[in-house]
Amino acid sequence: MRIQVLGSAAGGGCPQWNCACRNCRGARDGSIRVEARTQECVAVSADDGRAWFLLNASPEIRAQIEGCTALHPKALRHSPIEGILLTNGDLDHTLGLLCLREWQRLVVYATETVRRGFVENNVLYRTLQRFPGQVDWRTLSPVSEVEMATASGVSSGLVVEAFPVPGKPPVHLEGLGPASPGDNVGLRIREPATGHVLVYLSAVARVTPEVLAFAESADCLFFDGTFWSDDELREVGSDKRAKDLAHLPIGGDGGSLAALAPVRRPQRVYIHINNTNPVLREDSPERVAVERAGWRVACDGMEITL
Ligand code: MLT
Ligand code: MN
Ligand code: ZN
Repeated sequence: MRIQVLGSAAGGGCPQWNCACRNCRGARDGSIRVEARTQECVAVSADDGRAWFLLNASPEIRAQIEGCTALHPKALRHSPIEGILLTNGDLDHTLGLLCLREWQRLVVYATETVRRGFVENNVLYRTLQRFPGQVDWRTLSPVSEVEMATASGVSSGLVVEAFPVPGKPPVHLEGLGPASPGDNVGLRIREPATGHVLVYLSAVARVTPEVLAFAESADCLFFDGTFWSDDELREVGSDKRAKDLAHLPIGGDGGSLAALAPVRRPQRVYIHINNTNPVLREDSPERVAVERAGWRVACDGMEITL
């Protein structure tokens, strides 16, 4: 299985358009060791890079595709992107769908909750209804593995299981309906031919026994690295806490680094990193702590082969 990180930052990216925090300034002027990052999106392939599936669709999808030769068209009107899997309905994960609004069929795997949140009462969704069947929604429901197949139904050599993970509905849907287990899911992507498993968890509010069990079943684990600490947004004048945003911080006693310490087998990668997070600074003590514990911090362009 080939895993290609197209974007590794949380919503806003780094630098973020309206932010002059230490990391955003540093990413602009080169004064500190911080790489710029686009918003989270990862491509996976099991057939030597012919068919690709995207995990989430970031608002920067156009530039992310252009920056990755494997995702360029191989014919006059064509895309090697055979499907897109959504982990939740956040705009940093779904806005990219609207950017793919050409006369091209899209296959989208999502929970029924995420699908409804995106298509209902959304006048902009009409841009993906230009012809019948423009978007082929395929349901991710917990506990059952589904084959990741191309638009024409050809097997990709990958199967996916979605599992509910503590999280929340997207900001723009908050207060409109009850919370649902389908609001936020983790993905367990398996390649039956080799047995290799990727577990992808880019938004996690708490490490439950189930999250831990899925993490332990992975050869490669991507995990929510939004914040280092619960009050990190204080630096940018916000009183929102990591837990208000349903992101478990990396550091501290109850943080993900401690909670996932028993998970030793998989390659471990933090992704969806907010621009305020000190782990983005390559020489910070927080970065050293993460790497000492055997984790890597995702960056755009990172490639992993299982
Ligand atoms: C999140 O990851 O918490 C969201 O992307 C936040 C947002 O939509 O601004
Ligand atoms: Mn986000
Ligand atoms: Zn910033």
